[in-house]
Amino acid sequence: MGVLITGIGELTTNDPEHGRLRDAAVVFEGERIAWVGPAPAAPAADERVDVGGRAALPGWVDSHTHLVFAGDRTAEFEARMAGKPYTAGGIAVTVAATRAATDAQLAANLRRHVAEARRGGTTCLETKTGYGLTVDDEARSARIAAGVVDEVTFLGAHVVPPGAASESYVDLVCGPMLAAVAGYVRWVDVFCERGAFDEAAAGRVLRAASAVGLGVRVHGNQLRPGPGVQLAVRAGAASVDHCNHLSDADVEALSRSDTVATLLPACDLSTRQPLAPARRLLDAGAVIALASNANPGSSYTTSMGFCVAIAVLQLGLTVPEAVWAATAGGARALRRDDVGVVRVGARADLQVLDAPSVTHLAYRPGVPLTWRVWRRGEVLAGGPGFV
Ligand code: NIG
Repeated sequence: MGVLITGIGELTTNDPEHGRLRDAAVVFEGERIAWVGPAPAAPAADERVDVGGRAALPGWVDSHTHLVFAGDRTAEFEARMAGKPYTAGGIAVTVAATRAATDAQLAANLRRHVAEARRGGTTCLETKTGYGLTVDDEARSARIAAGVVDEVTFLGAHVVPPGAASESYVDLVCGPMLAAVAGYVRWVDVFCERGAFDEAAAGRVLRAASAVGLGVRVHGNQLRPGPGVQLAVRAGAASVDHCNHLSDADVEALSRSDTVATLLPACDLSTRQPLAPARRLLDAGAVIALASNANPGSSYTTSMGFCVAIAVLQLGLTVPEAVWAATAGGARALRRDDVGVVRVGARADLQVLDAPSVTHLAYRPGVPLTWRVWRRGEVLAGGPGFV
């Protein structure tokens, strides 16, 4: 056998067969998990790592980021903290910087942020295009992303770029742009919001995506109530993301569907939006995911630990609910069953905290607790806190 990770004081598996185990061990064989159970019963392995009673859990599954970008929006953030509201308009600033960047600059920036996320325990990460907004710039964003991250989403329908007419831009997104990115992406997303795309335009984008066999997701109900959630549910979207402004009918529609409500609490704080109604969604039976929404405008953090802490301290989730949403919930939002779970056959992804329990993620907010991370059976080296 490959690598035995033992001395796990508390193991969150997300697997109903094991639940949360005390004094546990995991065995990796190559890129897969080969064994999970009580430490005293673990099989021998070629390599043995004793984590000294620390807590272990699946790597974070960050199902919503926008990391193919260049430039910086510090000034916009400062203005927001001084009382200026967040609008979709700032996206154009990043579009201009992204178009001006070379492929090498975009790839290096993406790799730097993904490395940062991995040091924080993220082992599966989705990212979107959406700061190119021409056929060539979206295609290169998708190509660069496909070489770095686990899941790529086409977000040509992020905003209508300056100078373009709305209807002809949607024609471009649904036609030549979609054709140019299709080989690199698994998902298509649309920002359904006033100032971005209305229900009719967003519906066109989702239908065009489905027609070429791509999965769909929606940015919905972020800045005000709107049709995004209902549109996503009707389209069979894997997720609808943001969900800050929900009616009772939206909550009910989500609770009766397979569409995951992906909540982005770091974004809510950074944009000073009302927090998403996580408790209401869970109590109604909806499935929720937590994601970072890492991007230079509305949420410039890759820290899923921070999102978990906010979800517990401000959204009213318990620690196990928040941890599930940031691991198994993210996997559901990406329609995957090989990540976000510690079970035999799943990908050999695991994070160990420098803490005896996952409770410390919220009990010690802001403290970098990631102690060691494995992804595909390999230790991710480097960065503070690593041994
Ligand atoms: O998910 N809502 C739209 N898109 C991003 C914001 C991107 C930006 O402001 O640059 C989001 O928050």
